[in-house]
Amino acid sequence: MAILEKHKILEKNATLLLVFSFLVVTIGGLVEIVPLFYLQNTIEKVTGVRPYTPLELKGRDIYVREGCYVCHSQMIRPMRDEVERYGHYSLAAESMYDHPFQWGSKRTGPDLARVGGRYSDEWHIDHLTNPQAVVPESIMPKYGFLRNRIIDPSNMKERLSTDEMVGVPYNDEMVANAIADFRAQADPDADASGLDARYPGAQQRNFDRKPGVSEMDALIAYLQVLGTMVDFSTFEPDPTR
Ligand code: HEC
Repeated sequence: MAILEKHKILEKNATLLLVFSFLVVTIGGLVEIVPLFYLQNTIEKVTGVRPYTPLELKGRDIYVREGCYVCHSQMIRPMRDEVERYGHYSLAAESMYDHPFQWGSKRTGPDLARVGGRYSDEWHIDHLTNPQAVVPESIMPKYGFLRNRIIDPSNMKERLSTDEMVGVPYNDEMVANAIADFRAQADPDADASGLDARYPGAQQRNFDRKPGVSEMDALIAYLQVLGTMVDFSTFEPDPTR
């Protein structure tokens, strides 16, 4: 009897088909799930990824509050067209301190996972204030009002502690200095040695080119760090994964 003939028996008997389908799904499920119990970690280890500075974290909150994620994903998939357009594909480790993460596949605007350093602060100020002045066909809304909204950082310590509770490695020193670090990052004249020791590579400047730490300062500080923490000129994927 040919194999197709045997298969007919299954196809003609609903109960038998159900039993065999269940068996196939069970085996498939086990193959997918069991290895996860034996992996130490599903996130590969990479150097360079650090928690966000208080200013970047605030910018991230504004990004989420304003719904930027509705039009922008932050996940470059390992496909050639995406890698050529946006840069190295995203690593899980790059968003391990993101709560909530900003992955996604719905893109009305471009992916922003590696937008950090691609444009100047001035470009971001102009673009956020009036996207159509920079890209005439853009449908992105205007966010110029962010530049007039000065941030009160008084709850910054609590904000860091909250992320610490869900596993972001903020230490006591980072929490204690949250407000000072917040101010220092947006003030080019402030002593940034403490900020840099706690958050290596943190960029310090007046991001929105206006006095006072505004929501636009925070948002641009966040945009400028996106995708820049891992040095991809030296990065080697772990061959055992
Ligand atoms: C209604 C959809 C929409 C929303 C909401 C939106 N954007 Fe955009 N964004 C776009 C589109 C479309 C483009 C491409 C055209 C352009 O550059 O303006 C874009 C481009 C960008 C770029 C340039 C990216 C690049 O690689 O050229 C940045 C940065 C950006 N948006 C940031 C933001 C931020 C930050 C927010 C939230 C404050 C936001 N966007 C909200 C649609 C949107």
